[in-house]
Amino acid sequence: MTKVRTGILISGRGSNLQALIEACKTPAYPAEIVFVVSNVPGVLGLAHAEDAAIPTRTISHKDFPSRQAFDAVVTEALKEAGVDLVCNAGFMRLHSEDFVRHWWNRHLNIHPSLLPAFPGLNTHAQVLEAGAKISGCTVHFVRPKMDTGPIVAQAAVPVLSGDTGDSLAGRVLAAEHCLYPHALRLVASGEVRVERETVVDLTRVKEQAPQTPLFSPPLDEGL
Ligand code: GRF
Repeated sequence: MTKVRTGILISGRGSNLQALIEACKTPAYPAEIVFVVSNVPGVLGLAHAEDAAIPTRTISHKDFPSRQAFDAVVTEALKEAGVDLVCNAGFMRLHSEDFVRHWWNRHLNIHPSLLPAFPGLNTHAQVLEAGAKISGCTVHFVRPKMDTGPIVAQAAVPVLSGDTGDSLAGRVLAAEHCLYPHALRLVASGEVRVERETVVDLTRVKEQAPQTPLFSPPLDEGL
């Protein structure tokens, strides 16, 4: 079975990376992680990759004069590693337009809210401030504007009274660890595809509309 060669971009703890590493151990899983790049030296995520014998590279954005220059080196490194699909997993840098165009429809991100609600930083504080009763996480294809792009999959969790940013973040993170492996499987297996900027499930497009309306008018029983 040919697996999709996947590169992961991280900046820190790497718990989503670890969830993807675990998923990739299943023989029938359609992706393999062949390379991990961190823009921050010495982070825990790099140790997760090294423990799994995955090649890593640290490319610090601080060593480059511009976002474009940093991104160009990241793209070259990913290409040298033979990467076909890129997954951001807690990668805390915006991408240049060139980077996004290069990896168009071959680049996923996970965000800890139900997009398009609550994009950007301090997500859980935003959710609590708004008084939302449901939050969750989203895996989407990357587009130039931060936290936008065709949605592959989402998972919802409740916001409980008394939640703090940390307690909500922990509940969402547990959902992320299930969602990202699921979403990567959908994309790597080819079960889903971007069409007109939405993600279409190719296993379901041929389903027929129900032959009878869901809410039928009462039958005239001839009274
Ligand atoms: C996750 O909540 C992810 O959604 C967000 O940053 C966090 C990264 O966590 N973009 P980890 O590094 O995967 O543990």
